[in-house]
Formats: sequence, structure tokens, C-alpha cells
Amino acid sequence: MIHAVYPGSFDPLHNGHVDVIRRASRIFDHLTVAVLHNPQKPNTLLGIEERLAIVRESTDGMAGVDAAMFDGLLVDFCRRIDARVIVKGLRAISDFEFELQQAHLNRQMNPNVETCFIMTATRWSYVASTRVKEIAQLGADVSKLVPRASLTRIEARFGRPTPRL
Ligand code: PNS
Repeated sequence: MIHAVYPGSFDPLHNGHVDVIRRASRIFDHLTVAVLHNPQKPNTLLGIEERLAIVRESTDGMAGVDAAMFDGLLVDFCRRIDARVIVKGLRAISDFEFELQQAHLNRQMNPNVETCFIMTATRWSYVASTRVKEIAQLGADVSKLVPRASLTRIEARFGRPTPRL
């Protein structure tokens, strides 16, 4: 049985993330979506409990998928839950350098864990949590970019978007 981990800040979870989760869940027997709780960086839009709840609501019904929060090193979390694979989504070549560095360092720290990349679906390849937050904060609609569970929390924070032509 192969247990994989899909880690991230998920602030907020967007449709590109959901696509990677769905596709990874078809490859691995068990997928844990691991939401980073970083007390050193408390300025996330959504709190850890909200981000975790969004992942749980958005993956409800996906076989073999669960969600957990983690802090500290990802490789230590993998050890604790006995996961052998780290799943990462790659949108563009610009993601690659950063991800390659992390993959090498993670493998150096824990050689029992392999990083596996899933190419983000073309239709979501331009979506990033940072952009979603910026657009929502500036009063525009992000409903096509995020799952309902994220949208509810985003609208609770920034209000309903201003209608545009
Ligand atoms: O969604 P993000 O913010 O791009 O996710 C980054 C994440 C959580 C995958 C990365 O920051 C991480 O693994 N953090 C845990 C700390 C850690 O293990 N750092 C060493 C990485 S080589």
C-alpha cells in the first residue's frame, strides 16, 4: 500500500489543488492532504482550522483521501504517518526550480520518501492562491477559481464581489 502526502499552505485551496488531489488519489492507495501550520507566519488569510475544514469539505467522497495539519519539517511528518511519497503540482517551468530544490533537500533528509510531480491541468495552470486572494480582496469574483468551501470563507472575509460587465 502506498501512502502519499500532498502538502501545502492551501491559503486558500483552489481548483488546481483539487485537481491534483483527485488525480493523485487515483494513483496512490491513501493520500493525506497536509495543511501547513506555521506559527512563525501567522499572516495567512485563513486560519489553520478553516483551511483544514475547506480541504475536508472539498475532498468529501474522494476515496482514500484524508486531511491533517502539520508543522515542522515535512519529512518528519512523512515519517510519523509512514508516507513514502510527497506529491507536488507543477504549473509551469517557473515552479520547477523551487520544487527541485525542495525535492533534493527532502530526499537528503529522508531518503525513504520520493517526490512525485503531477502537471497541473491546463485550465488551472494560471491559478495561484496569492492571485486568488488579491483578486478577492480587490472586490472581484473568484468563484470560477476555487471550490465552494473556499468561496464561502473568502466571501465571509471580503464580502460579495462587485458585479462587473
Ligand atoms: O503551498 P505552499 O506554501 O507552496 O507549500 C509549501 C510547503 C508547505 C510544501 C513547504 O513550505 C514545506 O514543505 N514546509 C514544511 C517545512 C519544511 O519541510 N521545509 C523544508 C523544505 S526543503
